Amino acid sequence: MEPRILATGWYLPEKIVTNDELARTLDTSDEWIRSHTGIRERHVAAPDEAASDLGSLALKNALDRAGLAASELDLIIVATSTPDYLGFPSTASIIQHRIGATRAGAFDISVACSGFTYGLELARTFIVSGAGQYVAVIGTEIFSRIVNWQDRSTCVLFGDGAGAVIVGPGDGKPGLLGSILRSEGEGADALIRPVGGTRAPLMAGDDPSKTCMTMDGRRVYNFALRVVKDSLEQILSKFGRKLEEVDWIVPHQANYRITEGIARRMGLDPSRFFMDIERFANTSAASIPIALADMDSQGLLKRGQLLVTIGFGAGLAYGANLLFW
Ligand code: UT7
Repeated sequence: MEPRILATGWYLPEKIVTNDELARTLDTSDEWIRSHTGIRERHVAAPDEAASDLGSLALKNALDRAGLAASELDLIIVATSTPDYLGFPSTASIIQHRIGATRAGAFDISVACSGFTYGLELARTFIVSGAGQYVAVIGTEIFSRIVNWQDRSTCVLFGDGAGAVIVGPGDGKPGLLGSILRSEGEGADALIRPVGGTRAPLMAGDDPSKTCMTMDGRRVYNFALRVVKDSLEQILSKFGRKLEEVDWIVPHQANYRITEGIARRMGLDPSRFFMDIERFANTSAASIPIALADMDSQGLLKRGQLLVTIGFGAGLAYGANLLFW
């Protein structure tokens, strides 16, 4: 029996920052940001909020919607590039304790914006293998802490937030069919946080901007255009499905223009791609589970619909999941 997504959950920090507000302190404009990305505003975490705080609330929301107790979880997978702590302890362990998931194993994965796509496949295979029954997959990010607020070409793109799904046993109907997971590590320098790891440890007195993320936007844009189209075609071919059968394509929310470009190249109506980047900006690993929770809350997801989720970003890694809702 194929496992399926039993419920979604999300949490967005209270504070909203609009493009116009950014333009007060940065050489940018609402017009530029909207026309180049589709973003209107983003949520920004409070100074005392860390990734585990957002992730715990998203998971609690998903458990409530699933009608499941935290103690029933077998595993918690957290996809994040902005963990509470560098290296350890894992953000997943902090969430596990916070929500009282007393029987659950917990670990983080670091695949940047593709993290949820990878995590969902791990959850599926964990359940299929018989290792356990209920898995939480969480994407939680606070990119506002790692962007360079002086760099208008990156800081306007990102937002903070968390999304979660509960994956559990199927009921005989089709569920999570499977995935493709890929990486093009030769592009690793295109999207990178160069200082703070073992390659270039953080030194006392380092200019804080050096510890921030940097991105070759054009290069990542071209990569995204190519791999989102390829992922869609590859996953449908792998599972013998046709594009006409797909009800929703849920891409990582990086730029509305990427989606438009792919729709144009593939002759698809852009409305088949779900986009909520306008309200949340790019929340990296959290963007797909936030999108799923958003769709769920809007009543857009109906049992039996066929979905493709597509993650892409730093690595350069990418991947797609094919699933029946
Ligand atoms: O989640 C991870 C995956 N990330 C992505 O998929 C991001 C992919 N890349 C992109 O989405 C786009 O490349 C960006 C949105 C980052 C940039 O859009 P673009 O159309 O590629 O702009 P550009 O970098 O070619 O810059 C065009 C101009 C430049 O000015 P000049 O040199 O033409 O005078 C930039 O300095 O726009 C300028 N610019 C801005 N102007 C106002 C860059 N950022 C801004 C800004 N406001 N915020």
